[in-house]
Amino acid sequence: MSVTVVVGAQWGDEGKAKVIDLLARENSVVARYQGGHNAGHTVVVGTEKYALQLIPSGVLYDHVTPVIGNGVVVDMPTLFAEIDRLESRSISCAKLTVSSQAQLIFPWHQSWDAISEGNLGDNKIGTTLKGIGPAYADKARRVGIRVGACVDLESFAEQVNERATAENIDIVHAGGDALDVERIVTEFVAYAKRLQPYIGDTVGLLHDAVDAGQDILLEGAQATFLDLDHGTYPFVTSSNPTAGGASVGSGIGPRLLDRIIGITKAYTTRVGSGPFPTETLGEIGEKLVDIGREFGTVTGRRRRTGWVDCVMLRHAGRINSLTELALTKLDVLDTFDEVKVCTGYRINGEVVHGYPDRSDVLGQVVADYITLPGWKTELRNCRSVDDLPIEARAFITAVERESGIPIRIIGVGPERDEVLDWTPASIFGGVS
Ligand code: GDP
Ligand code: IMO
Ligand code: MG
Repeated sequence: MSVTVVVGAQWGDEGKAKVIDLLARENSVVARYQGGHNAGHTVVVGTEKYALQLIPSGVLYDHVTPVIGNGVVVDMPTLFAEIDRLESRSISCAKLTVSSQAQLIFPWHQSWDAISEGNLGDNKIGTTLKGIGPAYADKARRVGIRVGACVDLESFAEQVNERATAENIDIVHAGGDALDVERIVTEFVAYAKRLQPYIGDTVGLLHDAVDAGQDILLEGAQATFLDLDHGTYPFVTSSNPTAGGASVGSGIGPRLLDRIIGITKAYTTRVGSGPFPTETLGEIGEKLVDIGREFGTVTGRRRRTGWVDCVMLRHAGRINSLTELALTKLDVLDTFDEVKVCTGYRINGEVVHGYPDRSDVLGQVVADYITLPGWKTELRNCRSVDDLPIEARAFITAVERESGIPIRIIGVGPERDEVLDWTPASIFGGVS
C-alpha cells in the first residue's frame, strides 16, 4: 500500500495531470482533494487530448476508481458536461464517487466572483470567475450546501430556494444581475437527482482501499504558490493545494502519505495577477508562450512566463515535505541558446535569506541566475538519461542542486510516453 500526493510546485499548470496519468497505471484510486473547475488538467494519449476540470486525471484507466474528495467545490453543470464528454469518447465514469462532504457551487457564487473582481478594478486577482472563492467563503461561513444534501430532493430544493433568495437580494444591492431563483431551483434539483448515484463516503472508501493494501494517488489542483496560506496572497486561490491540504481534503492522515511529488516546469508560468520574480518579458517571454503553448485550458488567457525559480522550489520542498520533483516541459527549452536557473533573490543588492513571507517584498526582489548553454537539440524522442545531451543534463542537475530536491521524472513532450526516469542509478557517471 502506498499513498502518493501530486502537488504543483509553482503557480499551476505544471503538468500535474500528465504525471497523474503516468502514475495511475500502478494505482487503484485517484482522488482530487481541493479546488474545483478552476483547474484545467490535460492528458494527451496519442492523438487524443482530454481536458479535465473536476474529474480526476486517473479516469482514463478502467482499473482506477476516480474520487472527488471532501475538500473539493463541485459545480454540477460542469461535472455532468465533463462526464458526458468523456462517456461520448467511451471513457466510463461509472465508478466516480463524489464525497457527500464536498461543497456545491451555485450561480450566486459566480455572480459574487464577478462582482468582487469588478470592484477590485486594476487590483483584481484575475480569478477564473468560476465562483471558487465565494464557494469556499460560504463553506467557512458554514452556510454552504454540501453534496450530501442532494440525497433528499425536497429539502435540497428548500435549501437552494432559501439561499438563492437571500443571495439575490444582496447581489442586486451590490449592482449585479438578478438571479432567476425559480429556474435555479428547478435546474439544480435535476442536477442533484443526477448526482445521487455518484454520492458516497469517500473517506471510508479511501481507508478501505488503504486497508486492502491498494495504492492511492491524491491529485492536487492549482499549486503551492496559489495556496490560500502559503501563496502570494491575495493573488491566490481559496483552498490549500499544498500537501497538508491533501490530508484535510481527502481524510487520509499525514502519516499515511508516502511520496509527495512536486511538479515543476523547466521554466515558470503564472496566470492572473501577482508578483513573479523571474518573469521574462519581451522576446524570451514570447518564445516560451509560443513553444510551450502557454494559454490557459480553462480561460484561454495567455500565461505569464519566466525562468525556473529554485528559491520557490526550495520553499515548496519545505512546505510540502516534497520527496521528489518531476521536471516537465524540458523540451520547450530545446531551441534556446542559453537557459537560466534562478538561485537567489536580492533587494537593493543585499542577498535575501530564503523565500520572503510577504508578497509585497517578493514583488521587490531581483533574481540572481546562473546561465547555462542551451542544448539546441530536440528532446522529444529521448527516453533515457543516456539520450539526453550533456547540456540538458547539466540544466537538470543545476535545478536539482539549487532546489535541494531530487528530480525523478523528466517530461520531454505532452504525450503519455514522452517522459524519462532521472534516478540516481540512471545518472551514475552521466553528469559532469
Ligand atoms: P496541470 O494543470 O498541472 O495538469 O497542467 P495543464 O494540463 O494545465 O498544462 C500543462 C500543459 O503542458 C498541457 O497542455 C500538457 O499536455 C503539456 N505538457 C505536460 N508535460 C509536458 C512536457 O513534458 N512537454 C510538453 N511540451 N508539454 C507538456
Ligand atoms: P491547475 O490545476 C493556474 C489562478 C487564477 C487566479 C487565481 C485565483 O490547472 O494548475 P480562482 O478562480 O481559483 O479563485 O483564481 O488562481 N488559478 C490557476 N492558475 N492553474 C490553475 O489550476 C489555476 N486555478 C486557479 O488564474 O490567478
Ligand atoms: Mg492546468
